[in-house]
Amino acid sequence: MKNFINSDDIKDYSKIIKEAIRIKKEPLMFNKIGTNKSIGLIFFNSSLRTRLSTQKAAMMLGLKSFIMNFNSEGWQIEFDDNAVMSMGKAEHVKEAAGVISKYCNIVGIRKFAELNNKNEDEKEIVISSFKKYCSVPIVNLESSIYHPLQALADAITIDENKLKPKPKVVLSWAPHPRPLPHAVPNSFIKMAKKNNFDFIITNPVGYDLNKNITKGVKIIHDQEQAFKNADFIYAKNWSNYENYGLVSNTNKSWIIDQNKMSKTNNAKFMHCLPVRRNVVVTDEVLDSKNSLVLDQAENRIYSAMVVIKKLIQNEG
Ligand code: CP
Repeated sequence: MKNFINSDDIKDYSKIIKEAIRIKKEPLMFNKIGTNKSIGLIFFNSSLRTRLSTQKAAMMLGLKSFIMNFNSEGWQIEFDDNAVMSMGKAEHVKEAAGVISKYCNIVGIRKFAELNNKNEDEKEIVISSFKKYCSVPIVNLESSIYHPLQALADAITIDENKLKPKPKVVLSWAPHPRPLPHAVPNSFIKMAKKNNFDFIITNPVGYDLNKNITKGVKIIHDQEQAFKNADFIYAKNWSNYENYGLVSNTNKSWIIDQNKMSKTNNAKFMHCLPVRRNVVVTDEVLDSKNSLVLDQAENRIYSAMVVIKKLIQNEG
């Protein structure tokens, strides 16, 4: 693997899940492959899980990790190739990426969608620029439109908890007061298409995601209908894709509660975290024995480990 930008960079998805589970059972089996190597983790946005799990993964593989919060600690970066840099931005991504490549063997980048302009967000300017100007592999720590390390952790979690070869997996929109990006649901959908799931999406009318990503997936606008016989409920809010970045639906009835969970096949509850209690999901569901949210967070370590290992070894 040369870079890990989205789930398509994984050649064989079921093989990488198995490898991650094998590493989880024996986490120090590759603790020498990163000796004398380093990973630079560049954050333009907040993080708990991605930041700590990727550092932990690096540590278990023997790498050192360096973190920079670029918005508060770095120079303001210019991404325009033809810019006359007479205003506030002091450093061009060409130099920033080139310099980081001198210090680090792998570079991780987190930069969320701005949600102001769909075309601009879909250009993925920040991660694409680092990919263009870094001379070392790039890992996506959540970009404008993808969060593939989260999706891989989710796939590992489903594999560990499924009770049948083809579980019914439902991605359900849930309410949220603020506009959220599409990266997590987009990557979850791409991952689900690569796995043997009976997979459906349920969201309010007008909240369908990018058709290029949902192509071939059944979308149901009746949440209770979608939940019937489900084995896994994956809750996530996303802002409106057509009326880009808007919160046009504040319908609290889409919250995941125990009444809805009782319509499922004793489904496991999943969410990438952070989650707003009693807005997205009730305490009762989140605190139930069927909640897998901490397992998902734990599996972020093993998704990062298997990806970093493949980048070091440049293998599929
Ligand atoms: N799920 C996830 O990426 O969490 P953080 O935003 O805290 O890293």
